[in-house]
Amino acid sequence: FIWTQSCTRFSALRLLFCFASFIVTLHLVNGDLSYSIPEEIKRGDAIGNIAKDLGLDLRTLSSRKARVDFDGTSKQYCDMNLNTGDLIASERIDRESLCGKKPSCVLKVDLVLENPLELHRVSLHIHDVNDNSPKFKKDLIEMEGNRFSIEEAHDADIGQNAVQRYNLQKNDNFILAQDSNTVELVLENRLDREKQKELNLLLTALDGGSPQRSGTVVIHVTVLDANDNAPVFSQAVYKASLPENSPPDTVVIKVSATDADEGVNGDVTFYFGQVSDEDVNAFSIDPKTGEIRVTGVIDFEDRSSFEMRVQAKDGLGLNSYAKVTIDITDINDNAPVIYLKSLTNPIPENVSPGTEVGIINVQDRDSENNRQVRCSIQQNVPFKLVPSVKNYYSVVTTGQLDRELVSDYNITITATDEGSPPLSSSKTVQLSVADINDNPPVFEEQSYSAYVTENNKPGSTLCSVSARDPDWRQNGTVIYSLLPGEVNGAPVSSCLSVNGDTGVIHAVRSFDYEQFRSFKVHVMARDNGSPPLSSNVTVSVFISDVNDNSPQILYPGPEGNSFMTELVPKAAHGGSLVSKVIAVDADSGQNAWLSYHIVKSTDPGLFAIGLHSGEIRTQRDISESDSMKQNLIVSVKDNGQPSLSATCSMYLLISDNLAEVPELKDISYDEKNSKLTSYLIIALVSVSTFFLTFIIIILGVRFCRRRKPRLLFDGAVAIPSAYLPPNYADVDGTGTLRSTYNYDAYLTTGSRTSDFKFVTSYNDNTLPADQTLRKSPSDFIVKRVFSFL
Ligand SMILES: *[C@@H]1O[C@H](CO)[C@@H](O)[C@H](O)[C@H]1NC(C)=O
Ligand SMILES: *[C@@H]1O[C@H](CO)[C@@H](O)[C@H](O)[C@H]1NC(C)=O
Ligand SMILES: *[C@@H]1O[C@H](CO)[C@@H](O)[C@H](O)[C@H]1NC(C)=O
Repeated sequence: FIWTQSCTRFSALRLLFCFASFIVTLHLVNGDLSYSIPEEIKRGDAIGNIAKDLGLDLRTLSSRKARVDFDGTSKQYCDMNLNTGDLIASERIDRESLCGKKPSCVLKVDLVLENPLELHRVSLHIHDVNDNSPKFKKDLIEMEGNRFSIEEAHDADIGQNAVQRYNLQKNDNFILAQDSNTVELVLENRLDREKQKELNLLLTALDGGSPQRSGTVVIHVTVLDANDNAPVFSQAVYKASLPENSPPDTVVIKVSATDADEGVNGDVTFYFGQVSDEDVNAFSIDPKTGEIRVTGVIDFEDRSSFEMRVQAKDGLGLNSYAKVTIDITDINDNAPVIYLKSLTNPIPENVSPGTEVGIINVQDRDSENNRQVRCSIQQNVPFKLVPSVKNYYSVVTTGQLDRELVSDYNITITATDEGSPPLSSSKTVQLSVADINDNPPVFEEQSYSAYVTENNKPGSTLCSVSARDPDWRQNGTVIYSLLPGEVNGAPVSSCLSVNGDTGVIHAVRSFDYEQFRSFKVHVMARDNGSPPLSSNVTVSVFISDVNDNSPQILYPGPEGNSFMTELVPKAAHGGSLVSKVIAVDADSGQNAWLSYHIVKSTDPGLFAIGLHSGEIRTQRDISESDSMKQNLIVSVKDNGQPSLSATCSMYLLISDNLAEVPELKDISYDEKNSKLTSYLIIALVSVSTFFLTFIIIILGVRFCRRRKPRLLFDGAVAIPSAYLPPNYADVDGTGTLRSTYNYDAYLTTGSRTSDFKFVTSYNDNTLPADQTLRKSPSDFIVKRVFSFL
């Protein structure tokens, strides 16, 4: 048995030899038989000759119905060859299915013989043959981790035929660690997932059979990620440029980072690193996509660039950083601003062209072209801009200013930058022009005329002058005054006065046309400036006549002077000039236009008087029947409204002979008081003497006062022309008087008692040459006296 046991350790090839030994051994053992057979014996192979081993007679076997029975098993693994007595395998005997992993596997067989019944127990020891390879449960083992226990391979065989050892394919990382009951893959060198994500290892399980069998499995090792990689930015520095005023949500730049790790370890999120508070509000970063967007107001003028650190972080907190530089580009969003740095306001109007009146400064917060500013000043003002240092401009006058034309300027200065589109702004500078007293007052008219009727009331208004001065306030305040001068030798102030404020001219006294008809004064208008400016104007005052003088009859003398009796020759024909009434009127024009009428006469048909000449003529021839004495009352009227008149009496004596003079006395006597004659002579002489003296005194006085008195000589008396009223001779034009009468009139004015007449001065052509007037002695005497005077 021991041998048999040892025999089982031999290879299958030696099976047959063992088999023979068994038979011998069984034969020696009296009683039960036992056979040892390898599993998987061929069907029909003899296991042993039972008949022989039991000493049974072959011939009786079939008669005794020898057969093999198995204990309670359905399967008939062996059979009996009745002819040979051999036990023959009739069914496949698989040790592994019969006994599994039991170390010994015995199949019990009963040999039954009948007649007589005989039972022999036969044990079939089935020994293992290496008919199974080691077998892993799966073909592929998925493995993760650092240390991997491997489920052992299974080998249905037992003992040496079971799995004896394992072999691992050669590799860099793993070795096999085996002990009695475990097999492990042990990581020997580090795995780098990033180099090799997975590897397949062939593991072979080997049994100890002969021939040896093996089973293999592929171990698929997936290398798990370790967070050994920080995220890596695609660029170390990101540069972006962004126009200012970009609206919120504008994407500025996108940062990206990769992480070689996987899963959470490779999950990169982005954050801003340390940033200042302002910048935090300006941009945001999308943690997932890395897009940096505008969130706040981007103003180039505040910040022209941003620099931020961006952090990329993976799931387990590995960080890396990149720099993001955002350059803001300028947009022309700031209009230039004009600052008025200084201004001379108001500016005197007399500043010379080119005077600087102000300084402006222009600023634009934008940059480069956007801050290049051009400045201009509005047209049509006498100012210009002169560029000075760096965005400073002087406002300079270009011409003469005149406050009286333009007193205020609104100077509009416009600044435009060179951006596109350009922006501009403007500023209005108000500038006033200060007054300079540069305008004299100017009268509204070149000259003024005032008309006043004589005998005006003192203080009456004659006219008013007015002057304008466009200057300001006191420089334009006009004050009127009279320029000193003389009117007929008297100071103007005694004639006129002017209201200094209003320019109204008043008469100071009453004017007498007969004294002077017009005069001129100068009125000055002066402003109140300092120094004052002035101008003057001529005011002509024209005095108009009023019929205030009644006609003055020069010849014949007033009633009572009966000396002057005209002789009318008896032979006088009709139409002969007999006499003439001479009258003057101090007034002028119509007021001095005299007309003569005979209001009463002794013989109304005999004499007529020339209406305007005053000549008395006979209307018819004198006849003897005519009364010798003729009286006429003549009225002299001027043409004024109302008219004034004077009357006189004319005595005419129709006689050829002075011898008839006594009648003269009678006439005189008749007419007047005869006593008067002597009185008259005395009075005449004394008045004449007095008058002469008076004349001489006046002449003397005048002669001394006037350096060059222009004397008018007529007869024996010289009278300065200055004493004649101006234009007195004009009256001559009216036909009333000739120049010679002027003198007479003058002498008689105001002195009715001194009436006289130079007969010679007028009678040359008024009386016929043959008149005998001069032959009358008394008349002659009278006339000589007058001539002498
Ligand atoms: C200047 O401007 C002021 C205020 O805007 C205005 O009252 C004035 O009339 C202007 N002057 C001129 C000369 O335009
Ligand atoms: C008047 O003119 C003078 C210079 O001529 C000037 O100094 C003064 O200020 C002016 N007065 C006014 C009220 O403008
Ligand atoms: C009056 O005005 C004239 C010019 O209009 C000038 O020649 C003269 O001097 C002035 N007289 C006075 C007193 O101002």
